[in-house]
Amino acid sequence: MAKQQHLGWFLSRGFGPQGWGRPDWDWGYDWRRPDLYQQSVRQLEQAGLDLLIIEDALSAGNPATLDLRVRTAYGAPKHDPVVLTPYLLDATRHLGIVPTVNVGSYLPYVAARQFASLHHLSDHRVGINVVTDVGSATHLGQERLSHDAAYDRADDWVTGIRELWHSWSDGALVADPATGRYADASQIDAVRHRGSHFSFDGPLNAVPFDGADPLIVSPGGSPRGLDFAGRHSDVQLALTSLDVDSIRAYRERVRTASAAHGREDALRTLFVMKPRIVASAEEADRVVAASAHPGEEQLKAIALGWSSDAETDLTVLDLDRPLDDVVFGEHVSRGTVAGLRGRYAEEPDAPLRRILAQHARLCRVTDGTGRRGTEFVGTAEEVADLIEELGDDAGNDGLILSGDLHPVTVHRMLDELVPVLRRRGILRREYGDGGVAGNLRDF
Ligand SMILES: Cc1cc2nc3c(=O)[nH]c(=O)nc-3n(C[C@H](O)[C@H](O)[C@H](O)COP(=O)(O)O)c2cc1C
Repeated sequence: MAKQQHLGWFLSRGFGPQGWGRPDWDWGYDWRRPDLYQQSVRQLEQAGLDLLIIEDALSAGNPATLDLRVRTAYGAPKHDPVVLTPYLLDATRHLGIVPTVNVGSYLPYVAARQFASLHHLSDHRVGINVVTDVGSATHLGQERLSHDAAYDRADDWVTGIRELWHSWSDGALVADPATGRYADASQIDAVRHRGSHFSFDGPLNAVPFDGADPLIVSPGGSPRGLDFAGRHSDVQLALTSLDVDSIRAYRERVRTASAAHGREDALRTLFVMKPRIVASAEEADRVVAASAHPGEEQLKAIALGWSSDAETDLTVLDLDRPLDDVVFGEHVSRGTVAGLRGRYAEEPDAPLRRILAQHARLCRVTDGTGRRGTEFVGTAEEVADLIEELGDDAGNDGLILSGDLHPVTVHRMLDELVPVLRRRGILRREYGDGGVAGNLRDF
């Protein structure tokens, strides 16, 4: 039997207009209402997925580049995924729901209390995807921290939250009708947290969990990000090429980082995957061949997406001239520019057209050669072959499928893949009762 693996879903553009700009928009779901997401999460659960992670960004962008973010709803609008979470928990029984939370946006005491409440309400199915983006500091009236200082703050934030979650010891909750005593204050730690960024007193006024804490998920892949994961996380959300060597190397970095904090085997690493499932190998070949020649409209859409991410208008540039770094202001992350340049990082004369076209190019999942990326085309059997290979040959824990939460996207990705994975024993058929942390520890 193949190695069993965990599947999750990453709602990659957050709680925003699902399906805008595509024909499926005309299914007529209202993205502002819970029904669309509730329908989708029921299907994720039926499919045996372990968790949903909801992307978020606090900011609609600065006034000068706002139109780039909103023109095609690429970066905004975006509603708050924490507020969506209870609706999704109510629609499901086993699926973990993990909204993204920017560390700057909640004081540790408030976050500890809200997530403790949600965790109790959902029978231990909640998590936090902890992110450290500082671009939104201006909305929060905060100073903009450096990359590493933002991680220091995140360390302090999670440490403080865990102290609060554990401020009630095992004997604190008595609930004995015979004596009429509900709780014993002598068993509650007052918590005096004096950290590098947060100072506060406890204890938390929420009762303790009779199971694992809410799941801590982290997506940062830099050395500092992996150190954070090694110290605090239950799940690392990982982005790397989906080939055996890259997966082995990333998993080894996570293992080293967690071992450095005495947390051997504490993390599950889940790799982002965006498969495009087609009916036959011939269709896959056709789709891949066509993707090598994107039309002007497609290049424009890609330029607009990157313009939103880089808060720099690439749509006004001449496609046939080299992309000059001076167009990017100081506020633009060098990682974003490197991501845009991609394979042309060392070719300053490469015209913008070629740089953009590489982002349209799809590859076959069966391309065994070199680096495969995270997005590819194949039949369900071919994609399952890759998933099986990553589990058996690289010890992979699992994958996070990335897309919106429109039912059409969910069906396209899962309808054929799920039965194949089940037949091979890779995907679960039933859940235990240990909440989301328990599900991730089942195998
Ligand atoms: C798969 C993935 C998902 C991410 N999701 C979010 C998100 O929802 N919100 C956000 O602000 N940042 C998100 N990030 C960005 C990371 O939080 C982090 O800021 C970025 O990866 C830079 O950190 P690093 O230098 O440690 O890699 C995501 C990154 C990855 C790889």
